[in-house]
Amino acid sequence: MADFFDVLLTQRAARTLGPEDVDDATVTRILTAATHAPTAENSQPFVFIVVRDPAIRSAIGVITAGIWEGGAKALEADRLTPSFLRNVEDGAMGGIAAAPVLIVVCGDTRLTFPQAMDASVFPAVQNLLLAAHALGLGSTLTTLPTLGDGLAETLALPPEVVPLAVVPIGHLTKPLGPPRRAPVSEKAHLNRYGTPYPPALP
Ligand SMILES: Cc1cc2nc3c(=O)[nH]c(=O)nc-3n(C[C@H](O)[C@H](O)[C@H](O)COP(=O)(O)O)c2cc1C
Repeated sequence: MADFFDVLLTQRAARTLGPEDVDDATVTRILTAATHAPTAENSQPFVFIVVRDPAIRSAIGVITAGIWEGGAKALEADRLTPSFLRNVEDGAMGGIAAAPVLIVVCGDTRLTFPQAMDASVFPAVQNLLLAAHALGLGSTLTTLPTLGDGLAETLALPPEVVPLAVVPIGHLTKPLGPPRRAPVSEKAHLNRYGTPYPPALP
């Protein structure tokens, strides 16, 4: 079994995935990890739509591309480096939809209160990403396709079930390299904001 910290410290966003299938036993294993995440009051408001149908994947691709070209790209163009922008664009313009499995993660508004919804769904998404990576598969957390009404219509979601993320799952086409992350010392404080953590060694 892969070492937990090796999995955690090497997980990356993969936006171009190969067409080879990911079988239902594997998807179910990944979703089992997702469903074991914590939720407010153990409400488990997550709903997972496993999209395999090429026509529906393609419709999600069209929705995502439309949102990207309809304003998201212009917004991101000033915020991302050129290579990061290209990578996100590759995903938005077809890379994500080309994955063999798209997991649309939704929240059932009947099962928790609005303030707890995101905080009860995204831990499950993180488990999902880590489980996929532990099994040697690529994935990405995307929210772009959820902006607008297209996704809910395409998936025939009842009004109480809102899409919150789309996660493509598939086989990596190239190694992604190590993630770029700030050191703990840039993000953590001791007791009160402004006191360095971890403390300097004597
Ligand atoms: C809330 C949230 C929304 C995101 N939405 C998108 C998205 O719509 N499209 C996309 O390509 N990546 C999306 N990402 C992925 C981030 O860009 C990615 O996690 C981050 O750049 C770190 O990438 P790395 O793990 O490869 O270093 C999203 C991540 C989060 C946490």
